[in-house]
Amino acid sequence: LASAPPLALADKYFQLRPDELNPLWGNPCDDIRHRKIWSKGKSCDTLDSLPKVLVIGPQKTGSTALYTFLAMHPNLVPNLPSATTYEELQFFNNNNYLKGLDWYLSFFPVKQSNSSQLTFEKSATYFDGDLVPRRAHALLPNAKIIAILISPSKRAYSWYQHIRSHGDPVANNYTFHTVITANDSAPKPLRDLRNRCLYPGKYSHYLERWLGEYSAHQLHVLDGSLLRAEPAAAMNALQKFLKIPHLDYQKLLKYDPKKGFFCQAVSNEKTKCLGKSKGRIYPPMEERSAKFLRRYYTPHNTALSKLLVRLGRPVPQWLKDELSNG
Ligand code: A3P
Repeated sequence: LASAPPLALADKYFQLRPDELNPLWGNPCDDIRHRKIWSKGKSCDTLDSLPKVLVIGPQKTGSTALYTFLAMHPNLVPNLPSATTYEELQFFNNNNYLKGLDWYLSFFPVKQSNSSQLTFEKSATYFDGDLVPRRAHALLPNAKIIAILISPSKRAYSWYQHIRSHGDPVANNYTFHTVITANDSAPKPLRDLRNRCLYPGKYSHYLERWLGEYSAHQLHVLDGSLLRAEPAAAMNALQKFLKIPHLDYQKLLKYDPKKGFFCQAVSNEKTKCLGKSKGRIYPPMEERSAKFLRRYYTPHNTALSKLLVRLGRPVPQWLKDELSNG
C-alpha cells in the first residue's frame, strides 16, 4: 500500500474521476455529514431564504413581464438585483456557480421565521443551459419550476432583433433570413447567432431534460402569448400552481395602448410599463422566414404537443396554429 501527499493524492483522484472536477452544490443542511463539516459560523436558518420558485425562461418569451408581475404579489419575494447581470443572477448556468452558495444566498433577503413568503428567482438562460437542471435540482430539489413559451419562430425573431439592437455586427450585417438558413460551412459567428436564434426553441428537448430531474407536478408550462394578451388569466393559473393566495391581477394590470402591452396600473390614468427593450418595434417577419421556421420547428412542436398532452396540460393556441399550418 502506497500513499502520497494530499495535493498529489487530489491530482490522482481527479485524474481518475474527471467528472467530479466541477462542484455540484447541495444543501449542506440536507445531509448530516455535510452539516457537521460546515463552518461553525453558518446556520441552516440562512438557507431558508433559498428560492422556492425558479422562472427558467427561455429568453424573449415574456420572462421579464412575468418576473415583474410575480414581484407584485405580496407572498412572493424576488431576488435582489445583481450589478453584473442586471436583474438576472444566472447562477446555475455560468461561472457564477463557481462563486458558491454564499454568493447565491447573498441575493435573497433573510426570511423572517413563520413568514409565508416564497422567494423566487428568474434567469431566462436557465431553460436551455446544459448543466442547469442537474445543478438546480441538487440545491433546490423541492423548487417549483416555471417555463414560459411562445411560438419558437417568434422567439427566434425577437432574439435576432434583440441582438441587432445591441449593435451586434453579425446581426447588423446579415438579414434574419440569412442567419436562420446559414449552413454548417458558414463563418462561426454566423452559425453561433443562428444557433442562439434557433436552438432554445426546441422546447420539448429542454423540457424533457428538466423532467429528468424534477417531477412533472413541480413544473408549470406557462403560455407566454396568453400572458401577453390576458395576463390576469395566466397569473390566475400560476397562482393556483404556486398555492399562494389569489391576487386579482385584473385590477393591477392595465392595457397601455401606447406601449401595446399590459402594464402595472399605478393610478386611474397612469401605468408603469417595462422599458424600451421589452416590446420593441420592428418590421414583421418575412413570409419566407416564417415558412422556413414552421418547417424547421414542426418535429419539435409535434414533440412538445405530445409532451403537454402526456402531462395533462393545455396545448397553447399558438402551438395548435403552428402545427395546423406546418
Ligand atoms: P419583443 O421586444 O421582441 O416584442 P423577455 O423579457 O423574456 O426578454 O421577453 C421580451 C418579450 O416580452 C418582448 O419581446 C415582448 O413581446 C414580450 N412581452 C410580453 N408581455 C409583455 C409586457 N407586458 N410588456 C412588455 N413586453 C412584453
